[in-house]
Amino acid sequence: MEAATADHAAALAAVTARAGSARGFVVDFTVDGNTIVPSPQVLGLEVDVGLLTEHGPWLIGFAREALLSASERRRGGVHHTDPTLAAEIARLAFELLGRSPTEAVVVDPAVGGGVFLLAAADCLSGQPADIVRQLYGCDIDPLAVAATRAALTVWSGGVEPPAVNLRVADYLVPATLFPRADLVIGNPPFLSQLKGSTTRDADDRRNLSDRWPGVGRYVDTAAAFMLAAVDGLAPGGVWAMIQPDSVLGASDAEAVRARLTAAAPVRRIWVDDARRFDAAIDTVAIIGRQGSSGDVAMFAGVPASEVGVVSLPPPKSWAPLLAPVRGVPVVNDLAVAGKPGAVAGKPGAFACTLGDFALVTAGFRDQFYGLREAVGEDPDAEVKLITSGLIDPLTNRWGTRSCRYDKRVWNHPAVALDLVADDIRDWVRARLRPKVLVASQTPTIEAIADPAGELVPCTPVVTVEPHDPGDVWRIAALLTCPVTTALLAHTASGTALSADALRVSASRLVDLPLPANADAWTRAAASARTGDVAATGDAMQEAYGVDDPALVEWWHSRLPSR
Ligand SMILES: C[S@@+](CC[C@H](N)C(=O)[O-])C[C@H]1O[C@@H](n2cnc3c(N)ncnc32)[C@H](O)[C@@H]1O
Repeated sequence: MEAATADHAAALAAVTARAGSARGFVVDFTVDGNTIVPSPQVLGLEVDVGLLTEHGPWLIGFAREALLSASERRRGGVHHTDPTLAAEIARLAFELLGRSPTEAVVVDPAVGGGVFLLAAADCLSGQPADIVRQLYGCDIDPLAVAATRAALTVWSGGVEPPAVNLRVADYLVPATLFPRADLVIGNPPFLSQLKGSTTRDADDRRNLSDRWPGVGRYVDTAAAFMLAAVDGLAPGGVWAMIQPDSVLGASDAEAVRARLTAAAPVRRIWVDDARRFDAAIDTVAIIGRQGSSGDVAMFAGVPASEVGVVSLPPPKSWAPLLAPVRGVPVVNDLAVAGKPGAVAGKPGAFACTLGDFALVTAGFRDQFYGLREAVGEDPDAEVKLITSGLIDPLTNRWGTRSCRYDKRVWNHPAVALDLVADDIRDWVRARLRPKVLVASQTPTIEAIADPAGELVPCTPVVTVEPHDPGDVWRIAALLTCPVTTALLAHTASGTALSADALRVSASRLVDLPLPANADAWTRAAASARTGDVAATGDAMQEAYGVDDPALVEWWHSRLPSR
């Protein structure tokens, strides 16, 4: 064992010894079958006996997390769950399981300090010695497994779980076999595939895509734990997992959502309304059951209270499950333009969408970097670079606000077409036509019109080019509207960098329906041309036949105040 690991093991052995003795028995801390000698320094610390007696089993896990450095926690996705939250999720999961939990087999795929197995133990009825036999789990960190074994031993009054129940193993490797579980519950590591320090290596990527074809390369590792959990369920079994809320809306996770819907659909969701984890990320707990699909009950808070029931959205996006807790108003009874032959009263598949009316595109990294040599300062620029930061609703801030591009601040970023990289020159030229540009990571949809075709979008700005150039202002109006922001917030909730922002993507914008009332839409376009955001929003509400002051107020509260 490395010196640092040995020190940590000795500290955990001391916490275990004290937690055991506070309850009147001796508990050893063992790693790989070896009993660890407790650290005398930690043994000597003064600790409140009441605290040790009551919370002893949980303290071992707390100590395991506290001993890791911030970077170790980040790299390993180690962010333990608060015991009260774990208890709530276990309660919601056992309620859904419905059957008597006396003999239920419970598996935690990433035990950490064992908080979910302790929560499950508290939900099971029977003798503690029998209950610990029903609990299984693994972790890739031997000290996590040792801490969990010690925690359950203290909990049970000195009865160790069988050695085979708790293993040092990678749960995503198919060889990690546990008995078929009535409940798989836990908080797997969140390992974003967009950050260098947590990306999967080539072998892991191949293993995952071999096991679950279609699971995208950029899916957070936490999502793969849901798939493995579902594969390990007994008939009628329940799975419950903490997840980053981006998994609900991320397009790369659509295949994961489709698999879950087919195998063990979501029936309950708990939404974190208070950032309870020591990581700058919004979380949910998703709870599903093997069998057929049904309504989804939504919960928030600790203790969890029910905030509504909705039907499970299609796999394309489960973000609508998040929207009510995040305060996004529900848009009812939209009057939308139907396609020729559409069935009245049935919007959705029958509605005309922005994708029928315009070409919606987004640039990628190549488009961002390909402009590097071509961007310079020029107050009289003929071709201007537009970043998200320069877009306010109906107002282009080029020249009046500075922006950042390629790690520099620019006041008048101009694009010299002859210096644009060869491989994107055609792409840039094709953008020089009448269009609307849409910012990303903003609280409402924020769009500006470019009727002269002189603006070049800087990734991740989205471009909307009407088939008829005369429709530029109609599109600017459609995007400057409470209804369309609320619709997007329903499908994109949780995919932005912060809970208050929308991640605007081309694939989401194309699905926005067109309004039924063409006259009101024309009036909205006229208001958009004058830059009057409020009048545009009002006329667009009329165009969609929606009279909902609360929705309008919500939208106004999110518009930029500057
Ligand atoms: C977010 S922590 C949660 C721990 C615990 N379930 C809790 O909620 O307090 C994730 C745990 O997953 C473990 N882990 C990371 N990758 C794993 C893998 N492939 N298989 C099993 N465990 C893993 C980490 O060591 C860490 O203990």
